Amino acid sequence: MIELKNIHKYYDYKKPNQVEALKGIDLTINDGEMVAIMGASGAGKSTLLHIIGGLSRFESGQYLYNDKDISKYGDAKMCKFRNKQIGIVLQNFALIDEYSVLFNAMTPLFFAKSSIIDRHKRAVEALKTVGIDKLKHKSASSISGGEKQRCAIARAIVNNPAVILADEPTGQLDSKTAKSIIELFKTLNSTGITVIIVTHDHNVANECERIITIGDGMIIDNPM
Ligand SMILES: Nc1ncnc2c1ncn2[C@@H]1O[C@H](COP(=O)(O)OP(=O)(O)O)[C@@H](O)[C@H]1O
Ligand SMILES: [Mg+2]
Repeated sequence: MIELKNIHKYYDYKKPNQVEALKGIDLTINDGEMVAIMGASGAGKSTLLHIIGGLSRFESGQYLYNDKDISKYGDAKMCKFRNKQIGIVLQNFALIDEYSVLFNAMTPLFFAKSSIIDRHKRAVEALKTVGIDKLKHKSASSISGGEKQRCAIARAIVNNPAVILADEPTGQLDSKTAKSIIELFKTLNSTGITVIIVTHDHNVANECERIITIGDGMIIDNPM
């Protein structure tokens, strides 16, 4: 379970140009939920997602993950938490273009202690799950937008995370491809993975069980 308690996040803290990006966020997300986070540009959606994923720190408040206080983790422990629990699909795919689909899907495993054969096997399995294992030797630059997103999702699930975070995963895709990507997230969710999607698209949000709306760094709607 993810519990955020009164989280305040600043950029350029205590500098003249300080921005308070999150202004006291209280949010609970249960295991196995599929939720959407909506809100205008600049509302703080990405900042919130990055905090949930352990990619960013915050100035005050508490983040409990399965009752453990993540806020107190040092960098090494945070990195381990992220690698073990969280799969992240960043905005704009963030693939390494000149590398193969397989290599891209394998990148999170470079920190794993397993053998190269095992890593290869796990990456192929992840590519099968997202339906692009036949493309494994193609370069990431040579595949379509929908296939790129599938590759980014394969990379996010290769470590068998408990939680998948996706930042505007359909922003670059046509509506038909977007629908197929949401279906993929729903399939992953049905296996027990918690899915949290930041989106502008009401069609995407309506496929989720709960829509949380944030505005100006605050939660303005959170139906429970
Ligand atoms: N690296 C940064 N440095 C300074 N300000 C930032 C940075 N990232 C985001 N912000 C500011 O924080 C606020 C929230 O941004 P963000 O979380 O990216 O919003 P969203 O994803 O909803 O568009 C905005 O005012 C934005 O300008
Ligand atoms: Mg954003």
